[in-house]
Parts: sequence; structure tokens; C-alpha cells
Amino acid sequence: MIEVERLTKCFLLLGGRTLTAVNELSFTVRAGEVYGLLGPNGAGKTTTLRMLLGLLKPTSGQASIAGFGSSNHPDEVKRRVGLVSAGSGLYQGLTAREMLLFFADLYAVPPSAAFQELNRLSRLLGLDDFLEQRCATLSTGQRQRVNLARALIHRPPVMLLDEPTLGLDVLARQVVTEYIDHLRQEGKAVILTTHHLEEAERHCTRFGLLHKGQLVSEGTLADLQARTGCTTLMEMFLKLSKVGPALHEVNT
Ligand SMILES: Nc1ncnc2c1ncn2[C@@H]1O[C@H](COP(=O)(O)OP(=O)(O)O)[C@@H](O)[C@H]1O
Ligand SMILES: [Mg+2]
Repeated sequence: MIEVERLTKCFLLLGGRTLTAVNELSFTVRAGEVYGLLGPNGAGKTTTLRMLLGLLKPTSGQASIAGFGSSNHPDEVKRRVGLVSAGSGLYQGLTAREMLLFFADLYAVPPSAAFQELNRLSRLLGLDDFLEQRCATLSTGQRQRVNLARALIHRPPVMLLDEPTLGLDVLARQVVTEYIDHLRQEGKAVILTTHHLEEAERHCTRFGLLHKGQLVSEGTLADLQARTGCTTLMEMFLKLSKVGPALHEVNT
């Protein structure tokens, strides 16, 4: 469902220096999988997701969703992807209901299907109490629920979750946990980026460890444990930050 092949992004920085944010990255995610793209700040996670969505042009390599290339068919790709990111905002002047119907319209969801989906998501995420409230007046937790609903309003088969729990309290994080369980039950192909490693361990069926734009290790938790000699993702992370890509060379 999601295919990333030797994806590379170099940014030209002020002063003429180039930064390779994503370096020859390859991985695939099938329907029903929750793939944990893990790495410290600056590892290249968001840049990868932006290229997948067709928002950023790769320097080389390619990404595709359901067979549509992210660079060549950005509209086909956007129709099939839901994005949840920590930074996404809501239109303050619209009510939660208006906001969701507006996005349904942007995605060309027919009105009858949009109403149906809104009702379903409202039940799923508990939006009923504040659907008629303007987004400006919503609490952080309520906003987040609207954001989670917005990402699903066009029923995309692929979900990209970029640090979906950043800055949230325990209760709001629990909502995200249930949301991801729901996505898995629905058979979506999911990429989750996070540095909450316990969360990643709970949700992800496979992991890719990203360090300075490169995939240094990939597999199930058992694969990674066997390869790195570490028990937890946390230990792997700490080892990675000390030795960097050598982890890969030593263990594969
Ligand atoms: N538009 C940009 N211009 C220049 N550098 C960028 C840009 N976007 C991201 N970067 C750099 O690319 C690297 C990877 O960033 P990012 O993908 O946001 O990392 P992550 O999401 O893993 O924290 C960082 O060093 C960041 O500063
Ligand atoms: Mg990021």
C-alpha cells in the first residue's frame, strides 16, 4: 500500500551547505500494518511523510501510495491518505461540524456520505457534546478529537500519524491509542512517528529506526531485539545515539 524506494531529500541551507535530511530510505507498509518510523528529533521523519504526501519533492528516489506516485499523482495520493500531525490547526471561526463538513467537501466526498461519516466519527470519537461549538472555544483534548476525525472524513486507506500525542495529557493520549486500535481493525496501512517508545511498542507491528535520515534497522520487535542485543526500543535508541549507523554495520 505504501512504498518508499531510495527516497532522498537534500535541503540547500543558507551559505550554500546542503543537508541530507532523508538518505536513500526504502520501506513498505501493507494494509493492516502499523509501521513505527522512529528516530530522534531531526532524524527525517516529518520530511519523509511530507514527501509521501506529495507536499515536498524528493531530490531522488520515489514514494507511492496504492500504486500512485507521490510526485506524479499528488491528487490521487491525497485522496487516499489521512494526516494527523501535532501542528495541524483548525479554523477558529468554524464549528467542529462545519470544519469536518468543509474538509469532506475539499475531498469531494458527496454530502450524504459526509453526513454519514460525520455521525460515525462523532460516535467513535465522542464529538457530540461540542459539534456545534466554534473551534476557537474547544479545549486541547476536544481539538485533537476534531483533528483525528478530520483525518478520516474521506475514509482514506492510508494514515500518516506524525507525533500524534505530542503535548497531550494522559487522557487525550488514551484517545489516540483507541484511535490507532480502530485504524488497525479497519485494516488501514498506518505510519506512526513518535518518540514515545512505549506507545510505539504497544501499537506497531514493525519498526524502522531512522538515524540522520538513514534507516539503520528494521523489523518486528523480536527482529530488532535479536539484531541489536537490546530488550527495549529505549535501549536500542540509546545505543543508536552513541554509535550511530555502526549499529547497522555490526548487526546486519
Ligand atoms: N524546509 C527545510 N529546509 C531546511 N532544512 C529542513 C527543512 N525541513 C526540515 N529540515 C531539516 O531536515 C532534518 C530532518 O527534519 P525532520 O524531517 O523535521 O525531522 P523529524 O521529523 O525526524 O524530527 C532536520 O535537520 C531539519 O532541520
Ligand atoms: Mg517531525
